[in-house]
Amino acid sequence: MPRNETLVNYFKTRRSVGMAFLSEPGPSASDVDEILTIGTRVPDHGKYAPWRLVLIEGHARVRAGEKLAEIARRNRPGIDEQSLEIERRQFLPAPLTIGVIFSPKPNAKAPELEQLLSAGSVCLSLCHAAFALGYAATWVSRWFSFDTAAQQMLGARGGERFVGFVHIGTPTATPEDRERPALADVVTRWQD
Ligand SMILES: Cc1cc2nc3c(=O)[nH]c(=O)nc-3n(C[C@H](O)[C@H](O)[C@H](O)COP(=O)(O)O)c2cc1C
Repeated sequence: MPRNETLVNYFKTRRSVGMAFLSEPGPSASDVDEILTIGTRVPDHGKYAPWRLVLIEGHARVRAGEKLAEIARRNRPGIDEQSLEIERRQFLPAPLTIGVIFSPKPNAKAPELEQLLSAGSVCLSLCHAAFALGYAATWVSRWFSFDTAAQQMLGARGGERFVGFVHIGTPTATPEDRERPALADVVTRWQD
């Protein structure tokens, strides 16, 4: 396979774009299909597909935010109105959010850790797919990835949990690069 300069440049410079800077237009229906197709083409030991995806788009973004605010109010009696408004806007302004659910298969020959890593790979692949189609994306978890009631409300079933929410839209800003670890700090060569 010849060196692909466009791809190399993308991987060397890619940066997530924060949710606040993702706007309309979002992906068309065919773009969404393509993003999902690319995003779910991930390493998956044993082909168990130990993940499911939930799309939050259109008016459902508002409803999901309202329900998150209700859960936040139950969790934190006395929560102030400004904090509730932040919860109501958890799926705004990005036109599309894809929730990635880790759905481990019991008695699979692939250890659960491998299945979890496959689900994480879906999150990053969805980001790459969004950028490849001309959009921008970010992968976040937020408190509701760790709250049982919120996870159920957003679509997780027994034994499942969210591993990420990938927000996708058209970027309204270009983030500055951030520092990356020096290779010397994170890479060693094994010697016996
Ligand atoms: C699993 C995971 C969960 C994350 N959750 C959050 C989050 O809840 N809130 C947040 O502000 N950033 C979160 N981040 C960080 C964002 O993805 C952040 O934009 C990212 O570190 C930017 O990296 P990049 O510039 O290499 O794309 C999370 C990152 C990962 C890998």
